[in-house]
Amino acid sequence: MPKKESKDTELMDKVVRLARNRGFIFPGSEIYGGLQNSWDFGPLGAELKKNVKDLWWKMFVHERPDVVGIDANIIMNTRTWEASGHIDGFNDVLIECKDCHERYREDELDGGLKGTCEKCGTKAQFTSPASFNTMFKTNLGPIESDDNVVYLRPETAQAMFVDFPEIARVSRKKLPFGIAQIGKAFRNEITTGNFIFRLREFEQMEIEYFIEPPKTKENWEKYFNQWLKEIRRWLKAVGVDMERIKEVEIPKNERAHYSGRTVDIEFQYPFGQKELYGLAYRGDYDLNAHEKSSGENLKYRDLKTGKELMPHVIEPSMGVERTILAILLSAYTEEEVKTAKGDKEVRIVLKIPSIIAPYKVAILPLSDKPELRKIAEKIRIELGKEISVDYDATQSIGKRYRRQDEIGTPYCVTIDFESLEDKKVTVRDRDTMKQERVKIEELRDLLKTKLT
Ligand code: GAP
Repeated sequence: MPKKESKDTELMDKVVRLARNRGFIFPGSEIYGGLQNSWDFGPLGAELKKNVKDLWWKMFVHERPDVVGIDANIIMNTRTWEASGHIDGFNDVLIECKDCHERYREDELDGGLKGTCEKCGTKAQFTSPASFNTMFKTNLGPIESDDNVVYLRPETAQAMFVDFPEIARVSRKKLPFGIAQIGKAFRNEITTGNFIFRLREFEQMEIEYFIEPPKTKENWEKYFNQWLKEIRRWLKAVGVDMERIKEVEIPKNERAHYSGRTVDIEFQYPFGQKELYGLAYRGDYDLNAHEKSSGENLKYRDLKTGKELMPHVIEPSMGVERTILAILLSAYTEEEVKTAKGDKEVRIVLKIPSIIAPYKVAILPLSDKPELRKIAEKIRIELGKEISVDYDATQSIGKRYRRQDEIGTPYCVTIDFESLEDKKVTVRDRDTMKQERVKIEELRDLLKTKLT
């Protein structure tokens, strides 16, 4: 089947359009003119996002005996952010064009752009760089005062350090073991954009993997490399195009102050090669900082020997929305096909792995006649107990197939008038478009086999 190659710039437009038209992702608060690059996930987007997060939890929590999950508060005691260094150091440097007042992160204007405003295009003068803390601030309780300032967490990580002794105690895990969390994070980014790439409100899937204090570099590098492999395994599982992935070793002078090694997992987006995920060796920086600040003992106590030690940490950190963007860009496919009349036509297919597809199966009665509807409804109820199904009885069958291809539904089940006689239905495969006749009583088992 010839695949039509889309140029990357076109690809971005096409993916944004599909996401909008099919109800995956659309601008938030739109009736009020939107809200600076905020996006809402519609019915299909919510399913896709949930499937991505569920798969992550399955692969990294349920399938691993050495990782436990938590779900911590978004707002934490403000001393958390003092100790972690976020209040003093979680800053971006902002500069503003004196002509049109467009604001930039200073580092964004590096690489030849310095001195020219991207918006007004003139050789503009910029204001002097000003440091700007990117944490969202609010107050706890009804009175606005300096005493009750709190922050929306800018990363999910800190709760896993602050709660470490409690989790080590209740889970009775031996080192090395990890704590995982999926949840919202907030950053008051100076510039947002590129669809869901840089947001002010987003979700992270993070693991803090605690290891014994390493005696040699090899001791921690072993775990670091294991997590690098795990990230690759994950990317393949969600169907990210590995040819677009680059692992970039971050030099010491560009790493966060706590990091002994950072590898950025970058993706070739249509707007350039940029960060998708990060993997960092954080040493014992965070636990030490919180121990010092709180005065509490955050050390790990060996269950057998009673010996105390301060673990070191490897941190794989992944953004949910960037994962979704990478998945959509990898899965979007255009193929030239022939219609029943022999004309050429382009079909759009979202070739996402079935495990994350919003609907696993679409049930399509050929007509809305009651006798077909009765069978179709029965199948929908049966399958719907185990998997997410769509039911569509409108428009021609060809149009319905195209719609399901575009939203990535792996299988379509068509009920036609012959089904009344032979008690069989047609199962169509999204990728090969091959069709097979299957006994209704065998449908559930067949689809289950295909979908695993
Ligand atoms: N705990 C480490 C940490 O938060 P980070 O590199 O600042 O590290 C981790 O963020 C991941 O979170 C990024 O690799 C990216 O996937 C996601 N992320 C960070 N900022 C984001 C933003 N403004 N919009 C969307 N995703 C973001």
